[in-house]
Amino acid sequence: MCGIIGILGDHQAAPIMVDALKRLEYRGYDSAGIATVHDGALDRRRAVGKLVNLADLLVTDPLPGFAGIGHTRWATHGGPSVANAHPHRAGRVAVVHNGIIENFRELRAELSGDGESETDTEVVARLCEAFLDAGMTPKDAAFATVDKLEGAYALCFLFDGEPDLLVAARAGSPLAIGHGAGEMFVGSDAIALGPLTDRLTYLEEGDRAVVTRSGAEIFDGEGHAVQREMTRIRIDAARIEKAGHRHFMAKEIHEQPQTLSDVLAAYVEGERIAPPSAYDFTATDRIQMVACGTAQIACSVAKYWFEALARLPVEVDIASEYRYREGPVGAQTTALFVSQSGETADTLAALRYAKGQARAILSVVNVETSSIARESDIALPIHAGVEVGVASTKAFVNQLAVLLALAISAGVQRGTIDAAREAELVAGLKRLPGLMAQALAVEDRCEALAARLAEATDILFLGRGPMYPMAHEGALKLKEISYIHAEAYASGELKHGPIALVDRTLPVVVFAPMDPLFDKTVSNMQEVMAREGKVLLVTDAEGAEVASDGVWEVLVMPKVEPVFAPILYAVPAQLLAYHTAVHKGTDVDQPRNLAKSVTVE
Ligand code: F6R
Repeated sequence: MCGIIGILGDHQAAPIMVDALKRLEYRGYDSAGIATVHDGALDRRRAVGKLVNLADLLVTDPLPGFAGIGHTRWATHGGPSVANAHPHRAGRVAVVHNGIIENFRELRAELSGDGESETDTEVVARLCEAFLDAGMTPKDAAFATVDKLEGAYALCFLFDGEPDLLVAARAGSPLAIGHGAGEMFVGSDAIALGPLTDRLTYLEEGDRAVVTRSGAEIFDGEGHAVQREMTRIRIDAARIEKAGHRHFMAKEIHEQPQTLSDVLAAYVEGERIAPPSAYDFTATDRIQMVACGTAQIACSVAKYWFEALARLPVEVDIASEYRYREGPVGAQTTALFVSQSGETADTLAALRYAKGQARAILSVVNVETSSIARESDIALPIHAGVEVGVASTKAFVNQLAVLLALAISAGVQRGTIDAAREAELVAGLKRLPGLMAQALAVEDRCEALAARLAEATDILFLGRGPMYPMAHEGALKLKEISYIHAEAYASGELKHGPIALVDRTLPVVVFAPMDPLFDKTVSNMQEVMAREGKVLLVTDAEGAEVASDGVWEVLVMPKVEPVFAPILYAVPAQLLAYHTAVHKGTDVDQPRNLAKSVTVE
């Protein structure tokens, strides 16, 4: 989503802001801009497209000043254009915004004159300017403006004639204040502020902050001055560099043996599963798992694990559906939310819906300071490190690892897994990072196949059991970065409709490790081949031995106990998508229309 930076510094702010926006590039954006106050005068520069366009503009048309705000925009209201890019300005006020102002039409109707953009944000600047016109101070005008807003926002205001003032506000979208030596910063996440300071204060819901070079005064939604804790952060610079890889996604795929091992170290102790925070699964009668996108796919895999290993029923929901369906949440239900960023608006809203109704709110998150983590009873970290590629890879794998560890822990508590089986499962988990490294060896075949997959206009993914959600993961990864239409079906569902699509032009990727469902999947594969569909079978050596006849291509994976297969089979799902996208020349790390952290509904 959009990225925000604000600076009250003692150097030229423009290059520092462009650098910070560069670090926010991973969130996805379509335009960028900055505003500064120089010699008391407010001015701005904005450009459409990549950040380099803004950087080029600043070479020919520099923007001096030690105080400034900057923004990368991911369009919600109005397409990418200079007029719609932030900062938005009205007279003496410039503002940057992440989120959506839901009542912007009503507010716009109350204002006289016309704006110059199609955005919801411009109304914030115009409203604030109207309050200044009415004689308010900049701080009071910004606060009065924020009072009138409905929706989700992180905002940062800069004022003409005020080189030592930023006003920030947060509702629904994260925002942090950074404390330097005689300098102060505002940023939409720790990555933006990382190299500038390691001391951050996260604003809480409804907070507003008045920031000057000597510090920040924070007020809650009722206007009472409040103290918010200052935390020290450590942004590992190496984790946000490509480390010799062509794309962040490639680097993150290759990091998986290490990141998987990192998360297992946090959840395994000797021969036992020991999650960092204990939860009693014996007193719950079901789990309601809620998430979006890839995280929701991780939940769908986990359903198989919890039901089989712990005999605990699981319902899986898409957050944007769950939050409005107003379904019953039993007092004995455990509500579990999975989110890499911990800021996904729909998942957060779903969590708030379940809160107070469910027995407990658990979350599985990558960002431990995120809203979802903070609003949960128990937040379970996935330790994947910063994930920059928009398409989730290592975070997905680590979500799976944490969910499997929880399912085993639930099984042990509920008596469906005895100590010997627990030790066996833990031994299997410990072998996974090594197997993951071996699985990466399918990369050369994936690269070779990419040219042929890239010619397809549609691709089908099939799987049974936990390989069914993995088929969804394969299809999602492929469509989001290669823009090839892909769909996933449970293998057994094929003949109930989608088989009509099969002809000689249709590649069908089948995830089928040798497991008790293998023969059934092979029968479905035969149905595809009988209609000249091109089957790409992803299986292990044993599966390849018995079922390779007549298939178009086979990818041979390391042998693994079926319960662990989803974690391993994430690798070919990712690599097929990655190499197909590279072959097509699409923007792998920042695919069109997508954003890393979806903080709007
Ligand atoms: C796809 C992808 C998205 C996210 C989804 C939820 O590769 O990354 O589908 O999984 O937007 O994001 P988080 O996990 O941050 O809630």
